[in-house]
Amino acid sequence: MSATILDGKALAARLEAELAERAAHLTRVLGRPPALAVVLAGDNPASIAYVRGKERAAKRCGIAARLLKLEQAAPPPQLLEQLAALNADPLVDGILVQLPLPPQHETAQVIETIDPLKDVDGFHPCNVGRLVQGRPRFLPCTPQGIRRLLHEYQIPTAGRHVVILGRSEIVGKPLASMLLDRGAHGDATVTVCHSRTQDLHAITRQADILVAAIGQPRFVRAEMVRRGATVIDVGINRTDQGLVGDVDYDNVCHVAGAITPVPGGVGPLTVTMLLVNTVRAARGGPEAE
Ligand SMILES: NC(=O)c1ccc[n+]([C@@H]2O[C@H](COP(=O)([O-])OP(=O)(O)OC[C@H]3O[C@@H](n4cnc5c(N)ncnc54)[C@H](OP(=O)(O)O)[C@@H]3O)[C@@H](O)[C@H]2O)c1
Repeated sequence: MSATILDGKALAARLEAELAERAAHLTRVLGRPPALAVVLAGDNPASIAYVRGKERAAKRCGIAARLLKLEQAAPPPQLLEQLAALNADPLVDGILVQLPLPPQHETAQVIETIDPLKDVDGFHPCNVGRLVQGRPRFLPCTPQGIRRLLHEYQIPTAGRHVVILGRSEIVGKPLASMLLDRGAHGDATVTVCHSRTQDLHAITRQADILVAAIGQPRFVRAEMVRRGATVIDVGINRTDQGLVGDVDYDNVCHVAGAITPVPGGVGPLTVTMLLVNTVRAARGGPEAE
């Protein structure tokens, strides 16, 4: 028996159509479209591709994306000044700095320079703190996309054991906070694993929902998955055989109850959630809703 495929691409397309309506309404109210500033420092090819994808998705939704490029060697003050100007610009609703940054920049300092009210990635310490306290402002995009996907396919989290592989600030940790929270889309029992975790197989086999976000091609094999479990593959790994996830999809799909493909699973939703956050920011933030 093969697993249900959790089609993130199709869901993203539906959500984009809804977003386009909300953006059109906001455009009438504000007299301008919701606006996202995307800061791209340097010439990392993957970053350039991601930024293009975000620009294209924004365009489809009627959101104005303003791209600001900095040279690979641009000194840190130049980036910080750019961000200060965007913070002060009333025509900019959301700011995204594409990561990773060239090595001369201090990522934490750069993120802290973004106005928390425009921090549509949800990485500013104020927004991370709010998330951990259960009163989020902007939910980080990838975890938000995962939660939306689970909701769409009516996969409950309450009382379920969710095992997350990876403790990154952008996926593992915020996803754990969100699923641990009280409420309809939370109430899970969460285990977060990392490279020092012992007897990983024994833990992953307990998962009702297994999330892989480690950046290791096809790491999660069929014997690590309990029959019928939901498997969410966040990994994006470029290999000789093309783009592959952190899950050995061809084998795991015969054991799992539901599974995300790579590409076409979590990735498209991450971009959509960035636009969801931008529209929220343009409305005056979640507090105004
Ligand atoms: N689909 C999307 O939209 C999206 C968004 C973001 C990231 N990604 C992809 O997701 C993957 C993870 O990225 P990330 O930024 O979240 O994580 P990351 O910063 O690359 O960190 C990797 C995490 O995985 C853990 N890890 C590595 N090898 C492991 C192993 N053998 N067993 C258990 N844990 C292991 C690391 O443990 P330690 O902490 O102990 O080192 C770390 O916590 C990458 O492929 C990335 O490209 C996709």
